[in-house]
Amino acid sequence: MTQDTPTKTKLAAAGLAADPRIAEAKRLIQEAIAEHSADLAAVAEPVPALVADYQAMFDEYSKLRGGKVYFPYLGSGIGNGPFVELADGSVKLDLISGIGVHGYGHSHPKLIDAGIDAALCDTVMQGNLQANPSIVDTSRLLVDLAKESGSGINHCFLTTSGAMANENALKLAFQRNSPANRIVAFTHCFAGRTLALAQVTDKAAYRQGLPDTIAVDYIPFFDESAPERSTEIAVNHFKYYLNRHPGKYAAIWLELIQGEGGYYPGQTEFFRQLMTAAREHGVAVIADEVQTFGRTSRPYAFQHFGVDDLVDIVTVGKITQVCATLFTDQYAPQPGLISQTFTGSNMTILAANAILQGLVDAGNFGDDGKNMAFHRHFATKLTELSNKHPGSISGPFGIGGMIAFTAFDGSSKRTNELIDRLYAAGLMSFMAGGSPSRIRFLLPLGCIEMQHIDTAAEIIDRVVGEMAAEQ
Ligand SMILES: Cc1ncc(COP(=O)(O)O)c(C=O)c1O
Repeated sequence: MTQDTPTKTKLAAAGLAADPRIAEAKRLIQEAIAEHSADLAAVAEPVPALVADYQAMFDEYSKLRGGKVYFPYLGSGIGNGPFVELADGSVKLDLISGIGVHGYGHSHPKLIDAGIDAALCDTVMQGNLQANPSIVDTSRLLVDLAKESGSGINHCFLTTSGAMANENALKLAFQRNSPANRIVAFTHCFAGRTLALAQVTDKAAYRQGLPDTIAVDYIPFFDESAPERSTEIAVNHFKYYLNRHPGKYAAIWLELIQGEGGYYPGQTEFFRQLMTAAREHGVAVIADEVQTFGRTSRPYAFQHFGVDDLVDIVTVGKITQVCATLFTDQYAPQPGLISQTFTGSNMTILAANAILQGLVDAGNFGDDGKNMAFHRHFATKLTELSNKHPGSISGPFGIGGMIAFTAFDGSSKRTNELIDRLYAAGLMSFMAGGSPSRIRFLLPLGCIEMQHIDTAAEIIDRVVGEMAAEQ
């Protein structure tokens, strides 16, 4: 460096971020979005002139992807909180939020800002070889939240899907506990759709025609109508397996609130006994929080149930945008075990940071936090509806931002019919569980307000009333 070379005092990137033109561009974009989305604040019918083209586009999509899609849904690309505009001009109240992904609903200013910041980044994707500081922020946020009430989680490996986070969790457990080659999971659990996870997931249809991969043994889940007895049964099953195949179990796989299985929450004592037995046998305790993360009274459901001291590996996804496997020092991998090209796009990583911090700052957590308050309000509404329509609605089920009810006889036929009719009436929900099937909601916890729940209840009331009258 010669004497004439000016000393660099700040990053070019910092200069760009602080450039007043960027702030002005953001302001203009936000202003335009607010203006164009202002009318999307109520459910609306499709625009007749758009319906034929929409149907043709949707048929093409189904054909291209090689199978039927659950909802005839193609978003237009704009929305307003929990309301979303579809490409046929209709507006839906979206309370399933991409199966728990759109935690801030549609066109949220925080995520628009994250998107603009992402567009200013030098690349589209961040990866294993080349990362930006935002990835450090996400990892730190997730670890700090995980350690809040005493877990031993110190590490976080980010990835692109819940399934990949779960694959990595399995690998950490198998490597640490090698040569153990089996795991234990709950009946009716859902873990993802890779070859290994299709084996863990307790649903035969999801592994139809697939080869066996890992050995999984199943124990029954908690039954809230018989707390002590179901705990005893599950623990006895687990101990039976541990004795039958000594040294062969690498992990116990725990979905703390069964999501796809039908919104069945477990309970502290139930988990504590199973986890303690696992610890005594050197079996990794894995909590699959891909669906539960961010939805209970605490960021992690293991904190909601107060079992922080007993988790070894935790996975998160969906509302976090970028997914992750978190683990204690003991389960840190050997070099080469876990890696990938993509960690996530700049958009997903910056959105993850905005969402994680946003939910904490907005008071979503805590026994009286927003997550639990939304649940209480929705639960009250569903209870009122179940009194008004006896035999047509039972429940509510679930915890926090996971809420469900059973409709009519709980058959998948009637449940699907109601989901379709709610959709046509403007309310998006989805199916969970098998027998009985349930109608579930994954609330967009960053943007929903009580009045949106009231609107959902009005739609359910009307549609269930119509269907009951037709019987
Ligand atoms: C509990 C649980 N684990 C794993 C997954 C798989 O996540 P992804 O679909 O992002 O691969 C899901 C998805 O629904 C889930 O609910």
